[in-house]
Amino acid sequence: MSQLIQSAAWQALETHAQTQKRIHLADLFDGNPGRAQAFVSSVAGLHVDYSKQRITPETLKLLRQLANDQDVLTRRDAMFEGARINTTENRAVLHVALRNRGNRPILADGKDVMPEINDVLRRMRRFTDAVHEGRWLGCSGERITDVVNIGIGGSDLGPRMICHALASHAQYDMRAHFIANIAPSEIANLLKTLDPARTLFVVASKTFTTQETLTNAHTARRWLLDFAGDETAVAKHFVAVSTNRAEVEAFGIDAEHMFGFWDWVGGRYSLWSAIGLPIALYIGMDGFERLLEGAHAMDEHFRTAPAAENLPLTLGLIDVWNSNFLGAETLAVLPYGTRLGRLPAYLQQASMESNGKSVDLDGHRVDYVTGPVVWGGPGTNGQHAFYQLLHQGTRLIPSDFIAAIRTHTPIGDQQAMLLANLLAQTRALMLGRSLEAVKQEMQASGADADTIARIAPHRVCLGNQPSTTILFPQMTPEAVGALVALYEHRIFVAGAIWHIDSYDQWGVELGKQMAGELLPAVGHAAPGTFDASTEALLQTIHQHWV
Ligand code: F6P
Repeated sequence: MSQLIQSAAWQALETHAQTQKRIHLADLFDGNPGRAQAFVSSVAGLHVDYSKQRITPETLKLLRQLANDQDVLTRRDAMFEGARINTTENRAVLHVALRNRGNRPILADGKDVMPEINDVLRRMRRFTDAVHEGRWLGCSGERITDVVNIGIGGSDLGPRMICHALASHAQYDMRAHFIANIAPSEIANLLKTLDPARTLFVVASKTFTTQETLTNAHTARRWLLDFAGDETAVAKHFVAVSTNRAEVEAFGIDAEHMFGFWDWVGGRYSLWSAIGLPIALYIGMDGFERLLEGAHAMDEHFRTAPAAENLPLTLGLIDVWNSNFLGAETLAVLPYGTRLGRLPAYLQQASMESNGKSVDLDGHRVDYVTGPVVWGGPGTNGQHAFYQLLHQGTRLIPSDFIAAIRTHTPIGDQQAMLLANLLAQTRALMLGRSLEAVKQEMQASGADADTIARIAPHRVCLGNQPSTTILFPQMTPEAVGALVALYEHRIFVAGAIWHIDSYDQWGVELGKQMAGELLPAVGHAAPGTFDASTEALLQTIHQHWV
């Protein structure tokens, strides 16, 4: 049995969970009139209410003891100090330095990383200003109106999610587009809508070796050259964001048009680096820096707040509580409104690529569950789709409800209706509806005894589904920055408890390798090379391949 499971704090939590599992959330509120005030925190402009989680003050006390035993805050300090906490890749983890707006020196290998970070920020500002002010023009002298980010995973999801969230802050009549998938329809359909004379491609890849990104970038390059007919046009329409200068130059992009970052920035933590260039092109560099400010405010809170007041610590521990002690397998992310509609996909990578691990830092296979399946989608849409399972399914599903209180686009009562729905769902998931209440309702509406006996059980909702509600005044760059940083640190905390490396991603390599081996076989039969199922699927493909 692992040391974690054997630890006194873990064992105490196991015992505590046996009691807690029998207590309904409604009873927790009935038993503690101050609960709604006790389990709430306001940090960096976010109001976070976790009173509807199935916790008590005792639960938090035991979870904090576990965090103490697992040295979570020592590991946090190590991260902020530039220690190589990503041990399997022997790298520091310093996305917090990218938004270190106070410029406190942060050392990696004894060298302050802030001057280089600030230098890239200055270059990003010079470049985005030149584009916005019409000093950077396309090859035929036209202004740039469309930015296309070509990247995948961390080089796509963050900028894409933020541009969508902050569309009300878009400036300079700039449109932002994103191409990630290798599927030919994705790039073909987008290019059909664009004018090459006014299009700027940002090829974003930390490694600059990712198959999908490089292939799409070459396709875009050919499309541009079909229009321009001259290689020199590439310099006016392509810039790169990468850590790999040699590969960028090999692609044909001048290093002068490359924005760098560093190996201590994980792909899924990179939107704060030059990977955020499409954001800066879309909302302006001031807006991008406001995003960094919001994240920095959350970083400072995480770095300095005592354990009992530390919000990312608390939420990360609640995630551990739900997964390891209450048996939850997933976390539903439910942003209300469409602006944060891409947040679930973003957090899927952030959480699942970080904490989807089964070997601990000492190389031992773990004997406890680690990262949950993260999923979700925007409300109210989800209410008319998958929420049924949350209300009446058999699984415990913790969820996060997230909303900006005011909208940039008020129309009648629509924002009030949006918020009312959010509150109704968190309430319904918590309280449910008892058999007695259902029967009374049915009687009141005139149903006969037979119908009531037959139908009432189907209308019962047990409630007791835990949720956290995150509200903020408006969808500003600061609020979105703080929100994303809150999740990043929460993921860190859970990973630290689980004693895993949250910053590597070896699992994705196997699929990449196999895709390389299979590519030749898709076009040409090579029987006997693969497993029987793959061979059979290849045969089907060959029958229809032209
Ligand atoms: O395949 C997974 C992954 O390595 C992610 O971690 C990363 O965000 C993505 O691919 C893209 O990688 P790159 O930025 O190097 O193209």
